[in-house]
Amino acid sequence: MTLRVEVFASADWADRVAGRLAERIAADPSMRLCLPTGSTPLPVYERLPALLRERDVSTAEATVVLLDEYLGLPAGHPARCDATLRRALLDRFDAAPAFVRFEVDELDPAAACQAFSAALDRIGGLDLVLLGLGTNGHLGMNEPGSPVDAPTRPVELAPETASAARGYGADPPPTRGVTFGMGPIMAAPEVWLLATGERKAAVLQRALNGPIDPDCPASYLRLHPNAAILADDDAARA
Ligand code: GLP
Repeated sequence: MTLRVEVFASADWADRVAGRLAERIAADPSMRLCLPTGSTPLPVYERLPALLRERDVSTAEATVVLLDEYLGLPAGHPARCDATLRRALLDRFDAAPAFVRFEVDELDPAAACQAFSAALDRIGGLDLVLLGLGTNGHLGMNEPGSPVDAPTRPVELAPETASAARGYGADPPPTRGVTFGMGPIMAAPEVWLLATGERKAAVLQRALNGPIDPDCPASYLRLHPNAAILADDDAARA
């Protein structure tokens, strides 16, 4: 078990992470990739389509899996995670990858989670999971209190998680969501946790050096056989 921590200067972080991701997709254009929303990956997503174009790599054979979704926002709402990822990345690729997300408009939340897990089984699982880091230590919407084997499921959101949706006009913000579970995240062959900015410094230290327990789901990544933290120097500053 090794949790690698790689720290890049803030000015270079997005170029380095986007470059690494582009290399991965170039090496395996049919890769199955789970992606988060949130503000952290945005500069990576901004750079990725051009890097793939430069390398003449198509995303037509790739599969993108969305990490989590809010409940209670109508289809197309700009704060929805599916809308956010489309806008930030998927719509900017030359060729649309397959997109697996939670079908929260068609199915009840528990059934949407089952359908999501079944879709992942059908594609044969994931190659790589990218995650953001909640200031409370959450991964996806696996909030503090989530056990290490928590399945993909409907969840109540912590207030700080919910309030992130307000920035995209969801006011009042959603209080519930559906998330890829902590258990299947731990079972993924490779995980990259992205963390930038001073506001993540305390929780990153907690995840790396505090107890491995449900108070900080990110601490579980220390038990993962192939996880890396890709941080900028502001987040990595103790
Ligand atoms: C959100 C999402 C997570 C995201 C995290 C960090 O609530 N559910 O998937 O990674 O919080 O967000 P940010 O990158 O904006 O700090």
